[in-house]
Amino acid sequence: MSPPGPHSTLVEVDAHIRSCLNWDYGRRDSRMWQLYERSKVAQWNVSTDIDWTPEVHVGSLLRPRDGLVPPTAPPGSPVSPERWNDFLWEFQVWMVSQFLHGEQGALLTTARLVEVVPDIEAKTYAAAQVADEARHVEAYARYIDEKLGVSYPINAGLEQLLRDLLAESRWDVLYLGVQVVIEGLALVATRVASTSFGDPVITSITRMIARDEARHISFGVVALDGMYQDMTSRELADRDDFLQEAVHVMSQRFLLGEVWEHLGVDVAAGRRFVRNDPRMVAFRQLLFFKVVQVLRQIGMLTPAVRDLMLAESLAQPEVFAK
Ligand SMILES: [Fe+2]
Ligand SMILES: [Fe+2]
Repeated sequence: MSPPGPHSTLVEVDAHIRSCLNWDYGRRDSRMWQLYERSKVAQWNVSTDIDWTPEVHVGSLLRPRDGLVPPTAPPGSPVSPERWNDFLWEFQVWMVSQFLHGEQGALLTTARLVEVVPDIEAKTYAAAQVADEARHVEAYARYIDEKLGVSYPINAGLEQLLRDLLAESRWDVLYLGVQVVIEGLALVATRVASTSFGDPVITSITRMIARDEARHISFGVVALDGMYQDMTSRELADRDDFLQEAVHVMSQRFLLGEVWEHLGVDVAAGRRFVRNDPRMVAFRQLLFFKVVQVLRQIGMLTPAVRDLMLAESLAQPEVFAK
């Protein structure tokens, strides 16, 4: 990774937020508290619970195991069959880099939740999640440093979403952005990575992280349960707009523009391939499946979000028929 520098790597976001203290110390028999109890016993240590000894050779022959990403160049690929292995490595490096940046985003935005959410149970749980996210940053940063030696900068769309969220004053929108959209994608993506990436180190890191992320998703669902039943149509329309923008930005990210650029492939051709190749479409639909599920649970799977997801092939129509 590039060394820290005052101008090259530091991003500052101004925010006007409303922190709140609460002298009602809550209930220890709530669903939120159960999650907190689970979190306390599920802590793990990046230094000792991951076997860091296997060597990783970037560029060595990869054999993706579960076939989510085509193991060999499919028809219409903008990359020649001889370079498909290079693509698979670029894809892994890009994904892990975005995991790392996303984890830092989750670290900061969840820390913000501690301040701005009103309930003590939610503050307490969010604090536990902050520790999880710090651990995730540690794991991916170490993997990139020690095993890959190369990384990608944050995707521009993800950075903009994180900037917007850090400037956000409505705490439920913070939940929607982080706990629903970003975490929903992260949960599935880390599970996919844990079964399809090429080396044992990233496999064990993503397996451990996926367990934590499943808890984080539950946190969002519990926190937003019933939240949108009593909102005004104006307030709901604001949330709807936010969700459409967040889903669109995240969907664009998975067209892999930076990967094609780095491989020296025509970016428009690369994006067209990802849009049309059946395996790549199925991969994106799998990634967004959890987001659909959670939005349905919290009552925010709006017609506009559904239409957007269909237009961008992020879900099959049958998914919405359930
Ligand atoms: Fe995380
Ligand atoms: Fe998380």
